[in-house]
Amino acid sequence: MSATGPSKPRHGVTVAVLVGIALAGAVGCSYPGADVPYVQTPTDVVTEMLRLAQVTANDVVYDLGSGDGRIVIAAARDFGARGVGIEIDPGLVAYSREQARKAGVADRVTFRSDDLFDTNLSDATVVALYLSYDMNLRLRPKLLRELRPGSRIVSHDFDMGADWLPNQTIQVMWRDRKSNVFLWVVPPKS
Ligand SMILES: C[S@@+](CC[C@H](N)C(=O)[O-])C[C@H]1O[C@@H](n2cnc3c(N)ncnc32)[C@H](O)[C@@H]1O
Repeated sequence: MSATGPSKPRHGVTVAVLVGIALAGAVGCSYPGADVPYVQTPTDVVTEMLRLAQVTANDVVYDLGSGDGRIVIAAARDFGARGVGIEIDPGLVAYSREQARKAGVADRVTFRSDDLFDTNLSDATVVALYLSYDMNLRLRPKLLRELRPGSRIVSHDFDMGADWLPNQTIQVMWRDRKSNVFLWVVPPKS
């Protein structure tokens, strides 16, 4: 793991990254109406995302497009946080609830079958993303509007463009692949 400057995202990067992950065997399927397909963040990368965001028991961690719930469950199980997963696929929501129960954190996490763009984020202190560059750009105004100053956003592999450079970037190795993880801290309202 090492600190670097911000990367320069390109639209083709989204496709290349998702194809690469698919070839590595980590891809699932896409639910009708989903803006991006279901692809899991590897567990090592999940841990580093939560470390980079300095998650503690005082945090409420949202994962927008929460897949199988792994980020929210890890935030509760390993960092003592509370968590909310927003996922458009109700089957993945049901699976996430079951995984949370097995992990013993069902009382500290909530999973909702909803569109992430319709979700109010005002009680989040940390937002996790693994979506796409285009989705991050669409989300950026909502994040800046609804999150309180000092809230942290961590994104696996996709940044927010040149208009909002990350405060920190790390690289995490898994198998023979390198993941970028980006951190932003929401600035004071102007
Ligand atoms: C790349 S996966 C990431 C899963 C998980 N966050 C992780 O990192 O392992 C993106 C997830 O977003 C969900 N998704 C796509 N569009 C969505 C939307 N508009 N609202 C809520 N969830 C959405 C997909 O169904 C998929 O499970």
